[in-house]
Amino acid sequence: MIIAIDGPSGAGKSTVSKDVACEIGFSCLDTGAMYRSVAWRALHDGVAFDDAEALGKIARTCEIEFVHEPGNPSPVGVKIAGDDVTSAIRTAEIDRAVSPVSAVPAVREALVAQQQRIGRAGDYVVEGRDIGTVVFPDAELKVFLTASDEARARRRVLQNEQRGVGSTDYDQVLADIIRRDEIDSSRAASPLVPAPDAVHIDSSDLTQQEVVTRICALAREKA
Ligand code: DC
Repeated sequence: MIIAIDGPSGAGKSTVSKDVACEIGFSCLDTGAMYRSVAWRALHDGVAFDDAEALGKIARTCEIEFVHEPGNPSPVGVKIAGDDVTSAIRTAEIDRAVSPVSAVPAVREALVAQQQRIGRAGDYVVEGRDIGTVVFPDAELKVFLTASDEARARRRVLQNEQRGVGSTDYDQVLADIIRRDEIDSSRAASPLVPAPDAVHIDSSDLTQQEVVTRICALAREKA
């Protein structure tokens, strides 16, 4: 069974997906980490963000590997072509680089194929932007998770403070979130749009646990 969780940055997808997966015994796939890893590789290798061919080649040839710990359904790290980029993909620099990289059709094509291979291997909570529309249009449950711009910026600042990576300046984070939404929603290739059959959840005034409980209840109904 696939549970697709889509929505804009900072709506709480990552934390909610991990908690849902843990509660119902599914594995968890963070597709944003895959786009971030390709953006990191491009920066590291000096590839320009308008060089669609070179970016596509990175996505097709550099293996992305999630690092697992026994007993934990959520990966604890991510590697690309052998480099551990778990923290490096969470910096403000990657926050800015990832939207143009993820708008390149050749990058999306390569990563979507990998995501489909991973997801077909078991029961997964898959989080991203196009999971219910493109990657798994037949997902048994589709959730579109949103929150106000301000709530998302507040959460992202808190998350960055806790991780010790990324900007903790509220105004900068808010501006970045609005700019990233604009690019993600207006790009030609797989823009961020809810699937017609997605359940919409606005998490602005809900606790994380309330969102998790609601999604787990929906998952149990579908199962
Ligand atoms: O969820 P995130 O912030 O880690 O995602 C990083 C970027 O990757 C985001 O700007 C949009 C892009 N992305 C995408 O285009 N498609 C996905 N399935 C997941 C993420």
